[in-house]
Amino acid sequence: MEKNIVKHDYTVDQNSRGKLKKHAAKLLWFTGLSGSGKSTIANRVEQILHEKGVHTYTLDGDNVRKGLNNDLSFSPEDRTENIRRIAETANLMIDAGLVVLAAFVSPYKKDRENIRTIVGSKNMVEIYVNTSVEECERRDVKGLYKKARAGEIKNMTGISSPYEAPTNPEIEVKTEELNVDEATEHIINAIYPKLNHHE
Ligand code: ADX
Repeated sequence: MEKNIVKHDYTVDQNSRGKLKKHAAKLLWFTGLSGSGKSTIANRVEQILHEKGVHTYTLDGDNVRKGLNNDLSFSPEDRTENIRRIAETANLMIDAGLVVLAAFVSPYKKDRENIRTIVGSKNMVEIYVNTSVEECERRDVKGLYKKARAGEIKNMTGISSPYEAPTNPEIEVKTEELNVDEATEHIINAIYPKLNHHE
């Protein structure tokens, strides 16, 4: 199939869209355990970028798994496919000129490396929302850890399925040391200067 598909180059490209939007496109990829605070922090970061006139869109695990990826489970293979589809979706959005915020557990290092390959290293900002499994379990916002301990959920990341922590993320926020506002400020300070200068 693929060999008969020829990429078409359109006249309006990422560069021209970027000029119109007056900022660079990026993927801000939030990784961390369930309940680590990814979505909460991503939401606040998006709010601030939006107020600053940046064109954004958020992709979030709990939402994407209800639509685009509603055929996928939490097996290792399906998580890999989950992340691949999201990365391809984010790549289209980057091409459209957006700053995409993606909040997914994305527990496997090789899957996160694949995102970088798909969207291009210069577009990728990996943000490690570092919250210990003990703290996530203590918070247990969705009650999933309790269910996992009771054996009602299999493959629960951090309990019965691994989380491979990033070793070299662009940004790391430790939520047991920083509150949501501080974590948000740290991320904005790190990324905003990189958005203003349209390359
Ligand atoms: S990922 O591992 O494939 O990246 P994703 O971010 O899409 O996961 O979905 C994680 C969300 O699904 C969690 O925030 C949680 O609400 C829910 N969930 C349900 N079952 C599991 C599980 N076994 N492991 C992790 N998260 C789960």
